[in-house]
Amino acid sequence: MGLAKQSMFDVIKDDMAQLEEELLAISQTPTMLITQIGTHLVKAGGKRLRPALYFLAAHSREEKVENLQSLAIALELIHMATLVHDDVIDEASTRRGIPTANVKWGNQMSVLTGDYMFAKAFALVAEHRCQKEVLRSLSDVICSLSEGEIIQNSEAFDPKQTEEEYAERIAKKTANFIAASCELGAIVAQHSEADIEALKEYGYCLGMAFQVTDDILDITASSEQLGKPAGNDIVQGMVTLPVIRALAVSEHKEELAEIVATRGMSADMVKRGLELIKATDAIEYSYNRVDEYLNRAKEVLPANLPADIRKTFEDVVDFVGKRNF
Ligand code: IPE
Ligand code: IPE
Ligand code: MG
Ligand code: MG
Repeated sequence: MGLAKQSMFDVIKDDMAQLEEELLAISQTPTMLITQIGTHLVKAGGKRLRPALYFLAAHSREEKVENLQSLAIALELIHMATLVHDDVIDEASTRRGIPTANVKWGNQMSVLTGDYMFAKAFALVAEHRCQKEVLRSLSDVICSLSEGEIIQNSEAFDPKQTEEEYAERIAKKTANFIAASCELGAIVAQHSEADIEALKEYGYCLGMAFQVTDDILDITASSEQLGKPAGNDIVQGMVTLPVIRALAVSEHKEELAEIVATRGMSADMVKRGLELIKATDAIEYSYNRVDEYLNRAKEVLPANLPADIRKTFEDVVDFVGKRNF
């Protein structure tokens, strides 16, 4: 499940290894339940994509930057807090291949632990030398994430949605966070304004592609592969890009629209819905969108990056295009 162990991140492997230790250390709190939930989440792994991108951007100038860990920890804590809250909202039973916090400890404990993690992240930011810029960026990220989830839930079970609405939603819930992870690395590396913007744009495009692939995999992959419940989006009434496309071109549009709009649908309905989507060109169409975002991500990378860092940024792009977990 973890990307950190893959050779793709060789160039930042020491930072990534230290991050694991730091995440475990910060999960040890005076309150046993918070420690248990925090440790459970950290040990389950995860791709660590946001801190990895931050490290890469931070190392993307020749000058060495000291003390990178605190923001990397803050990024992963914010991500984990978001996932814990997201699993409560989505009523998800597994995450990172193991039972979710909501299943093990209940919704109340999960919401409170998520809040604790957000606060811990900001305690780290308070000590940072670029505190003001980091604070602005990360508070924008959390506002954006919350807006994204709120819009998503208010639009659930509504088959009349456009691709533009979808794009706006996934920008808010996913791409802006990945963009900020790159931006913060570029800020601490003291890149030029133009290069900070370029790395942010890279992260944005990568993040858009990342969420579209997440939405494709929800339809095409197995729960075992993903480490989280597959097909859950349709159960939750999420009208994702493949669904929007299928609703436009399917020979059974009306039937599919009815399934999408059904609350508490049966397992048979979910199965039928997935079949109807897969019978169209929706998956291929969505992968074409992914490729557009990924091509743009490669194009916008600043020209003057060290070769090993550029190569890794490009490998991440290729990973997102091919990922199956
Ligand atoms: C999950 O993010 C939420 C989405 C934006 C799709 P990741 O897929 O990065 O989750 P982990 O950290 O690997 O578990
Ligand atoms: C992504 O939404 C989670 C956030 C960015 C808040 P999803 O609900 O699609 O994520 P998964 O599939 O549960 O990881
Ligand atoms: Mg979810
Ligand atoms: Mg999902």
